[in-house]
Amino acid sequence: MGYEMLLIKSPHRMESRKLGLALLVGFCIGVVTSFISITLSTAEQQFSLAYGARANPSPEINLHPHISGRSATGVIRMKQTSSSTNYAAHSTGQTKDDAVELASGKETEEANHGENEAERVQHTTQKQEAIESKPPGIGDRFNEHIGFERGEATKAACDLSNPRTDVCELHGDVRIHGKSSSVVLVSADREPRNPERRQSWQIKPYARKFDKAAMAHIQQMSVRSSNGLGDDVPRCTTNHSVPAVVFAIGGYSGNYYHDFTDVLVPLFITSRRFDGEVQLVIGTTKLWWISKYEPILRKLSRYEIVYSGSDDRVHCYPHAIVGLHSHKAMSIDPARAPNGYSMVDFTRFMRSTYSLGRDSPIRLGDGGGRKPRLLLIPRQGTRRFTNFREIVGVVEESGFEVVVAEAKMGSKVAEVARVVNSCDVMMGVHGAGLTNFVFLPTGAVIIQVVPFGNLENISRSCFGYSSEDAKLHYLEYSIREEESSLIEQYPRDHPVFKDPKSIHRKGWNKMGEVYLDKQNVKLDVNRFRPLLLKARQLLHR
Ligand SMILES: *[C@@H]1O[C@H](CO)[C@@H](O)[C@H](O)[C@H]1NC(C)=O
Ligand SMILES: *[C@@H]1O[C@H](CO)[C@@H](O)[C@H](O)[C@H]1NC(C)=O
Repeated sequence: MGYEMLLIKSPHRMESRKLGLALLVGFCIGVVTSFISITLSTAEQQFSLAYGARANPSPEINLHPHISGRSATGVIRMKQTSSSTNYAAHSTGQTKDDAVELASGKETEEANHGENEAERVQHTTQKQEAIESKPPGIGDRFNEHIGFERGEATKAACDLSNPRTDVCELHGDVRIHGKSSSVVLVSADREPRNPERRQSWQIKPYARKFDKAAMAHIQQMSVRSSNGLGDDVPRCTTNHSVPAVVFAIGGYSGNYYHDFTDVLVPLFITSRRFDGEVQLVIGTTKLWWISKYEPILRKLSRYEIVYSGSDDRVHCYPHAIVGLHSHKAMSIDPARAPNGYSMVDFTRFMRSTYSLGRDSPIRLGDGGGRKPRLLLIPRQGTRRFTNFREIVGVVEESGFEVVVAEAKMGSKVAEVARVVNSCDVMMGVHGAGLTNFVFLPTGAVIIQVVPFGNLENISRSCFGYSSEDAKLHYLEYSIREEESSLIEQYPRDHPVFKDPKSIHRKGWNKMGEVYLDKQNVKLDVNRFRPLLLKARQLLHR
């Protein structure tokens, strides 16, 4: 059996210390991993992180040596050789410095450990992932509208009722002073007897309001209206004619899944309608994050980014949105998005941003001998396939060309995106790597392998509904006890097998430790085979 193995990696790793962080790649749990492994040294801290109670935003989280020595450039090497060669290269791995592979953490204790913590960060909140705001009705109407309206165009409307996010929309004379995190809407109302028209709101412009741990790291913005009579109104130092969208990078950013569900998808909903004629005002010091997603940010806005945290100017706009709209995990509700935007539009936008050529997958049955390509995500830390070669075998027997992609530190999102877009099916165990579905052609197939332990709901709320919203075919495979490495750790009559719900009741931390951190998957290829045939059928249209 021969499969194509793509090494997406960087050869010149020391070249750009400063930029290194910017270029973290895709299959990213391992990446976050390393960040976290250095910042958390005591069990207590780890515990509180897992429970989302950590108070310190840990800016030093970015300075892990594994991360900071990364290169600015990356290449894709494509090899077409025998699988045994490939597999050997794959499993012996690279040097430690090249360590953080596709969702991997196998290299060191520390990295492994860190990965678990990182995963936990994600999973701490996945139970809440399904939270949806109630549709307020038609369009983007605010259902709790606190605001005022003044004859002309001056208007402030803040929706604080959405459990996922707070958003204020301001029209009129809007003045933003980044350094003091302050936004003022100056009304022409000179009538001092209208105190109710002097409103103020406190907004954390990050779309994960339900998650206290994430929000603890977000700088609060003060949004208020003023009639301009007092001396509390700053003077404009820079006038703009386009609207501003104000938001923060923080919380769990750096985790690939969170980058999309908490920031990029909400940012698309909020700013795409301006077709580039909008300025992004971002509260962050994480320039590596900006650099990592620069193509997306540039496509959303033609104007230079204002980094509000350190900006002492007063930027004035005719219109500003503070906070990002968010409807549900990793997805969009077209009934509530401007222009009816959907996840299909989001994925189309991703393809356009990264110049990805394939809008639809292979059409089987057209004659032509080409095989559909299946991207197999080989997690190597937690939740990895232990019979990887056997899986490659059955996938090939089922008529697929197998692509195994390893994202290395220093790879760019663009390179990962290109590989993913070249495939027709993507398959992997539940984890952040599946976020890459956003680069698949519309109509492609995603197969999520769900580890043992009642994890279907979590898995579905992260990737199932959202990939279906993107008009992908979503297939799910729940492993059985026999396919889980847990049978080597617990007797078969243990509650871990007999009563997973009792493990869930012990709290998220315990549940994650048992089912997410310490479980590997030995896929029963015979049981799995029908799903591959189903995937093929779905490509016959
Ligand atoms: C910005 O616009 C206001 C209102 O038009 C004007 O008074 C002010 O001088 C302008 N400021 C700058 C720095 O251009
Ligand atoms: C999963 O969701 C279903 C339906 O929404 C619910 O009945 C079930 O209890 C959930 N399972 C777990 C383990 O949370």
